Amino acid sequence: MLLVSRCVARAGQWLLRTHSASEFSGADIGWSLLVFVVVLVLVRLAQLYREQRRLPPGPWGVPILGYLPFLKGDIHLHYKELTEKYGPMFSARLGAQTIVVLGDHKTIREAFRKEEFTGRPQTEFTEILGGYGVINSDGRLWKDQRRFLHERLRHFGMTYIGAGKGQMEARIMGEVESFAATLEEHGEGPVDLNPVLAVSISNVICSMIMSMRFSHNDARFRRFMDLIDEGFRLFGTLAPVNFVPFLRHMPWLQDTRKKLNQNRQEMADFFQETVDNHRASFDPSNIRDLVDTYLLEIQNAREEGREAALFEGKNHDRQMQQIIGDLFSAGMETIKTTLQWAVVFMLHHPEVMKQVQEELDSIVGRERLPSLEDLPYLPYTESTILEVLRRSSIVPLGTTHATTRDVTLNGYHIPKDTHIVPLLHAVHMDPNLWDEPESFQPSRFLSAEGKVTKPEYFLPFGTGRRMCLGDVLARMELFLFFSTLLHKFHIELPQGESLPSLKGNTGVTVTPQAFKVVLKKRPMVSGAEATPVPPTPTDAGVVRNVGSH
Ligand code: HEM
Repeated sequence: MLLVSRCVARAGQWLLRTHSASEFSGADIGWSLLVFVVVLVLVRLAQLYREQRRLPPGPWGVPILGYLPFLKGDIHLHYKELTEKYGPMFSARLGAQTIVVLGDHKTIREAFRKEEFTGRPQTEFTEILGGYGVINSDGRLWKDQRRFLHERLRHFGMTYIGAGKGQMEARIMGEVESFAATLEEHGEGPVDLNPVLAVSISNVICSMIMSMRFSHNDARFRRFMDLIDEGFRLFGTLAPVNFVPFLRHMPWLQDTRKKLNQNRQEMADFFQETVDNHRASFDPSNIRDLVDTYLLEIQNAREEGREAALFEGKNHDRQMQQIIGDLFSAGMETIKTTLQWAVVFMLHHPEVMKQVQEELDSIVGRERLPSLEDLPYLPYTESTILEVLRRSSIVPLGTTHATTRDVTLNGYHIPKDTHIVPLLHAVHMDPNLWDEPESFQPSRFLSAEGKVTKPEYFLPFGTGRRMCLGDVLARMELFLFFSTLLHKFHIELPQGESLPSLKGNTGVTVTPQAFKVVLKKRPMVSGAEATPVPPTPTDAGVVRNVGSH
């Protein structure tokens, strides 16, 4: 811009030298404007060229839209093709925005351990969220909230060690048993696992956040799911505005934004009701869940005179609403989708299902259900879950980061506010890292001694400073739901149906296309089915119903 002002100043000086003020005509002004515009365009082009040369290589696009018109099909597959052409680190201009895509695990690790890569993009989406929450916030608020959540969630049992682990296991097992009982009630007709899983998985996270459970036919829960589904769809429609900002003035996108805000308000009202209910019965000596933990933090801040600075001065209730929304959306969809993929892969590979069931029968036996204590003795079951996570890569583009200042990575200059996309799909499907990456082989996670090994290029939960906050809970849930499902049932395809496709529907996550299964009961030794893991004394006090229950 310095250059532009110099050029414009020179043009102005030239005009003043050659014309006295009274001599200016319309043609002169027209010429001056033209010179100004041409200089502006040339300078911008020179600037872009200079920036482009210092960025990683990548495809060129067209003026204004950049590479946007050439994006086609599933974005993660398209980006993978581009990494094959330009190398594992490429850049592209999407409208007004520069993106850098990282398709190599070493570069992703190298970048994401640095503070400068912890930003989140400033987009239409984050503008609607107003900087609240943890997933899409950045700077000081994100750092404080991440630390706070990390610590408090461990207290609620998101840890592999300590007393909390048993409390969390009891909470999950309660839902696993209710899930299995619902399927048993359904009998041996074709069943869509999706809605049953949605309620059970939601209940795990909802009980931890706000002591709430939904029943399997709850109308309010269905409304909740519809709002989330519609939210994803509407955000998808708004996505072009993130790259071509002037589109936000288009009437149809304004309607989308209005609808989105209405839906968000409905969810926010529901979360606020939960917060209000908690406030009304709050007892600092009996912290029931995460919402109570937040209320305690607010009370402490008030007593210590730091209330105004808490959450970086943001509205406390809005921050609580967004945290509930963040954890719910991050903790539900991901686990549900991974379990659905697990079932799809079992249908495609009955030999793997058989081997898992044999391992479960020999270690757990037919008298009881699997528990976390069994996990170290079930390497094949665990490696099957890891292979599902690798092969499905349900978050194929990770979650986009942004640079918080100009930074150098692998010798390339990346300007502040560049969007950084970790292409987890490419890492998990790299033939240089994985033998026949397309094929489903749980044994690739087993050492020669039969022990589970996770290579450093296995990144389903991301890596670095913004790595998934719920990976411990995710691993516990995946193991307990998957192993119980296979321990209690044979999974078969309904007669006459063809195998569900291995190509998913790509949205924020890659989900399997809709499918049904037939579940054949694997008999347990009598009496064993009614032996739930007893809740710990603390747990009995924690789980209580609020809201509509
Ligand atoms: C199979 C299950 C899951 C997968 C594959 C998964 C994957 C991921 C990935 C790839 C990220 C992005 C990391 C980044 O920005 O670099 C992430 C972030 C996150 N996940 Fe998960 N996740 C799962 C389950 C969960 C659960 C159960 C919770 C809830 C407690 C959760 C909470 C979060 C949060 C809060 C973040 C944002 C962290 C931040 O921005 O600092 N996730 N997850």
